[in-house]
Amino acid sequence: MATAIADPRAPRATVRRSGPNLEKWGWIYMRVSGVLLVVLIFGHLFVNLMLGEGIHGIDFAFVAGKFATPFWQWWDVIMLWLALIHGANGMRTIVNDYVTHQTTRRVLVWALWLSAAFLIVLGTLVVFTFDPCIGIETSTTDWLIEMCAAR
Ligand code: HEM
Repeated sequence: MATAIADPRAPRATVRRSGPNLEKWGWIYMRVSGVLLVVLIFGHLFVNLMLGEGIHGIDFAFVAGKFATPFWQWWDVIMLWLALIHGANGMRTIVNDYVTHQTTRRVLVWALWLSAAFLIVLGTLVVFTFDPCIGIETSTTDWLIEMCAAR
């Protein structure tokens, strides 16, 4: 028996008529965050891997130095938020496209947003509460002991 495929531009049976069009804003978010992520990700890679000693200069002191600067704290946090929401929303699109079982789809989409929210909270806390002097008495790094003792 031949199956008629609906016109792709035909309105859905249950059309949302009130409230914000979240799918439209999600679509716009993917484009806007994509453009910002190009700048943030390639800026991050350039500064970490190309400037100064490049990859050989990356150690605990390098990270501690970056997290002591509000500019890099905000750079990293904005990159974290944009990328996690972008990635979770992109995965939501893929799940919606491929998972046909309603309950499985709901569980997966919830799991995506919960894990993104958890990583956003954790990452933001790490960036803004990072303290290189925690546990310093067990560290053997001379420069770190001197720096923390001087504070
Ligand atoms: C260089 C920066 C990036 C740019 C310019 C970019 C751009 C885009 C755009 C425009 C879309 C929408 C595609 C569509 O609707 O057909 C998209 C989808 C997606 N992005 Fe990104 N993105 C970037 C980084 C990332 C990162 C860091 C992640 C992971 C955390 C990610 C994960 C995804 C996923 C999972 C999708 C859904 C793919 C699909 O619908 O088939 N992207 N990206």
